[in-house]
Amino acid sequence: MSTNDYYQTNDQGHLMIGGVDALKLAENFGTPLVVYDVAQIRKQFNALKQAFVAGQVDYAISYASKAFTSIAIYQVINELGGHIDVVSGGELYTALKAGFPTEKISFHGNNKTKDELLMAVENNVGVIILDNFHEIELLKQVLHETNKKVQVMLRITPGVSAHTHEYDQTGQEDSKFGFDVRSGQAEKAFLQVKAEEQMELIGLHAHIGSQILETEGFNLEVEKLMQLVQEWKQKYDYQPQVLNLGGGFGIRYTAKDRVIGLGTFVEQIIASVRTLAEQYQLNVPAIWVEPGRSIVGEAGYSLYTVGSRKDVPGLTPYVTVDGGMGDNIRPALYQAEYEALVAKRPAAEPVEKVHLAGRYCESGDILIDQACLPKTKPGDVIAVLATGAYGYSMASNYNRVPRPAVVFAENGQAQEVVTRETYDDLIKNDRFYQEK
Ligand code: LLP
Repeated sequence: MSTNDYYQTNDQGHLMIGGVDALKLAENFGTPLVVYDVAQIRKQFNALKQAFVAGQVDYAISYASKAFTSIAIYQVINELGGHIDVVSGGELYTALKAGFPTEKISFHGNNKTKDELLMAVENNVGVIILDNFHEIELLKQVLHETNKKVQVMLRITPGVSAHTHEYDQTGQEDSKFGFDVRSGQAEKAFLQVKAEEQMELIGLHAHIGSQILETEGFNLEVEKLMQLVQEWKQKYDYQPQVLNLGGGFGIRYTAKDRVIGLGTFVEQIIASVRTLAEQYQLNVPAIWVEPGRSIVGEAGYSLYTVGSRKDVPGLTPYVTVDGGMGDNIRPALYQAEYEALVAKRPAAEPVEKVHLAGRYCESGDILIDQACLPKTKPGDVIAVLATGAYGYSMASNYNRVPRPAVVFAENGQAQEVVTRETYDDLIKNDRFYQEK
């Protein structure tokens, strides 16, 4: 087996994922197929863990499960000692079914319903991360009705813009998420929550964005939050047990992405928190992070089979595969860029640039606009790299195409962890219209 930084091959030169030949995966499970290299997931998680251990702080790594939600990933994260964040009753339900320890679940979302809050409270989730005044009111009602107590955090909008795609920014003031500091909303929420006996405010949360490739934004975020803590300590003698700094650590999608190690983000964050704690004479709180993309992104591969090809003289050819925007909306939605390989000969020299097109009925369904590939023919298996985050989790049944299967591969073994949808699955909620 040979290896470079981005992929492994076997003696036949085929792409290997988790020690399994990608061609075998395509043959056994069909395409389109999402495959995770589980060892890579563990490696990413452990890189964060090691940096926290070395930094000697209390910490939690709370996997942002919106990046990829399934029973199997919750099992793996639990085994690694992680927490998870969920953002809906559906994610919470999946976590409960996976047997995930409820005290390690944080419940997020900017419009949690009363039913969802009730579900969270009844199942004793670890923390509810409060996002707005409406929710404080709803949670109050739920706690009165159930006579229970719950730990909460306040999601603060720190006024920091991460350098990333506009849709991926969340920390700036003009955002639908969280309580704004400058206008006084955060302080008002703080006072409301502190007055509630059934809510224990364990800390503050912020999230500045996603696919962030430098540490500067996190330094600013820590600074804003620690300034706020200092203010609240002076005014109200309050100090949080936990500072949750969200996720957002960027990954390598293409050679253009200059990534920094996951440990570096954590080292920087710890250093900033320590420095400011000393400066403002505050306790060093436990530091929580919520990585999603960086845990599962690079571990994921999408396998497709090449079908039709269209050559127009003088223009870039279209090579079409059997998936596309239904299993990965990111190129169409965010102009996200990916790299692709031919699974049988990933090391082959590229000889042409093609539009790697999807099978859906939209011109915008192009997975890779300018894919550099060797000559391909119908039946070839193509692997698109680093599709593990926000690919399957944002998949749809557009054009009534069933969603792919998901396979976990590790130590040379492959196991289906989400089965491929069937045509029957597609119509299971349909009902005949009975004209009266
Ligand atoms: N914490 C909070 C509160 C979040 O809103 C998010 C992501 C995360 C953590 C995890 O961020 P990550 O480590 O994965 O960057 N669909 C978009 C990404 C949306 C991110 C939403 N929030 C995409 O495909 O790029």
